Amino acid sequence: MNVIAVYPGTFDPITLGHVDVVSRASLMFKTLIVGIAASENKNPLFSLDERVALATEALANLPNVKVRAFSGLLAHTMREWDSGVIIRGLRAISDFEYEVQLAEVNKQIDKDLETVFIAASHKYTFLSSSIVRDIAGHGGNVDDFVPKCVSNAFVEKFN
Ligand code: COA
Repeated sequence: MNVIAVYPGTFDPITLGHVDVVSRASLMFKTLIVGIAASENKNPLFSLDERVALATEALANLPNVKVRAFSGLLAHTMREWDSGVIIRGLRAISDFEYEVQLAEVNKQIDKDLETVFIAASHKYTFLSSSIVRDIAGHGGNVDDFVPKCVSNAFVEKFN
């Protein structure tokens, strides 16, 4: 029986779409770890420490959710964190191909890993971190898309 699940991603930055997936997944497992990938190849706008701090603040009201950083292979990190369940959100059919590929790769590396998909809530299906970064970078208001701490962080970053 799996009691620990991991929701991995770059979270650059965490959005309300991610928070929605985390809240719902946290009801299904004793502990949910939000695994923040270093993802250096994506050249993140927010540093790894900033992404961890923002996610920690945004999810502080969920007692069984922990936020941790990782680098290297997710499959190896899953072993280290004693978890066999990967949570991923699905927003639209366009996510499907990439997500299935990711799930397959992880299973090839470790056959005991299962990926559980959570359908994004309808109101967040259009949302992505890059869209939010783009709006904020052009001086737009992102309050409807991200937790308050993230909109404050954008103001600091772009001022
Ligand atoms: N709501 C809002 N946005 C969502 C979302 C949701 N429910 N679900 C996904 N997204 C968005 C993200 O904001 C992100 O948007 P962006 O690309 O515009 O910035 C995009 O979908 C996908 O990003 P994310 O969920 O952060 O995943 P990722 O593809 O960056 O990260 C990892 C995937 C980190 C899990 C994967 O790269 C990984 O495991 N890396 C470790 C190395 C490894 O093991 N590699 C082998 C396996 S590929």
